[in-house]
Amino acid sequence: MARMTVNERPLEFALDSATPLLWALRDAANLTGTKYGCGVGDCGACMVLVDGEPLRSCLVTIAEAEGRQITTIEGLSRDRSHPVQQALVAEQAIQCGFCTPGIAIAAAALLARNPAPGPEEIKAAIPNLCRCGVYPRLVRAVERAGRVMRREETISAAPAPGIGAADAARAVPALAAEKPEE
Ligand code: FES
Ligand code: FES
Repeated sequence: MARMTVNERPLEFALDSATPLLWALRDAANLTGTKYGCGVGDCGACMVLVDGEPLRSCLVTIAEAEGRQITTIEGLSRDRSHPVQQALVAEQAIQCGFCTPGIAIAAAALLARNPAPGPEEIKAAIPNLCRCGVYPRLVRAVERAGRVMRREETISAAPAPGIGAADAARAVPALAAEKPEE
């Protein structure tokens, strides 16, 4: 049993306290945006924010997450409008997309503490593995997201054309319950 706040909602997991946070998020809370890659702390696909710090959720037990504020990719923005999400799309820094949620989480944490990082800082702060090799585009995307956060540029690359903000949120099952009746 463990209680925590996930994407601003209180959640209580009736699971063994040694359960990895990754499993609880994906299998119990249906927050499948957080990806299960290596399972042993190498790839970064499972990154979530724990009290604002990007951590590999496969290495965090729900007991260790007790009382913490957890943010998954579903909670980074309700409509994919976080500057990192916009810039990843605008710079086409996504191929298969499997690594993308973890990268977006790591990038958002970096820009929250420094909205103007240089390339080397970006590479150091985002150790995530990408089998598709989006690394050069990733650096450009994070630099661009920083410019958006500094209000030097605006982009509107997300949600994708034809998908409204309400539709985007509705497509996330764990958030759908919070949507008002229409
Ligand atoms: S699944 Fe957690 S680091 Fe790879
Ligand atoms: S875009 Fe495919 S693993 Fe990174």
